[in-house]
Amino acid sequence: MKVFCALLFALSCIHISAGDGLKCTLKPTDINVPWRDMVDPCIKLLEAQVKLELYAAMKYMSMGAHFGQDKVNLPGFSKTFYDNANEERDHAKKVLQYLLMRGELTRGVTHLIQPLKEVSEPPTSTLQALKDALALEAQVTRALREIIQVCEEPKDSNFNDYHLADYLTTDFLDEQYKGQRQLAERIATLGKMVHTQGALADFIMDQKLMKGEI
Ligand SMILES: [Fe+2]
Repeated sequence: MKVFCALLFALSCIHISAGDGLKCTLKPTDINVPWRDMVDPCIKLLEAQVKLELYAAMKYMSMGAHFGQDKVNLPGFSKTFYDNANEERDHAKKVLQYLLMRGELTRGVTHLIQPLKEVSEPPTSTLQALKDALALEAQVTRALREIIQVCEEPKDSNFNDYHLADYLTTDFLDEQYKGQRQLAERIATLGKMVHTQGALADFIMDQKLMKGEI
């Protein structure tokens, strides 16, 4: 079956001429059935969410690289922020896949695959990096809550997008609140260690992060 489909695609797609070589002539099928039901404010908010998740991914990527520098050498912090970057990129992908599942992204995708804003230089202090991460997660949570609020009762429409609200509440908000709690714990622990151990605090915390103890 796979071979047949590939052959069909190749025969439909390939047009050979002397001037322009291989050319795809396969046209998208016109489904012509009104099955898409997402309303405009929800689509726009979800598209913005993709950019916000990508912004968070890039922000964490810059932190991971910063703490991995030879002169800084905090591999536990570096790994933690790289892991966070991967999670945020996966979140962006999940939102894209949700939009595709609902038949959206009809305006293309390239305008979405970019961060919301330019990423600034990461903080040099580990405590400040964790505080920045918590502030960023709180921003993401607020954005998710806004989507849920707007899409449950969109203005100028009687369409209630309960499926989207449920999906974001179940799959995203739960993870957000648990992640925020973990960051708050790490900030509290590191803050106390800085107070009692001084410069040694970074090393101790880094070891704990590497071993997954915190
Ligand atoms: Fe996220």
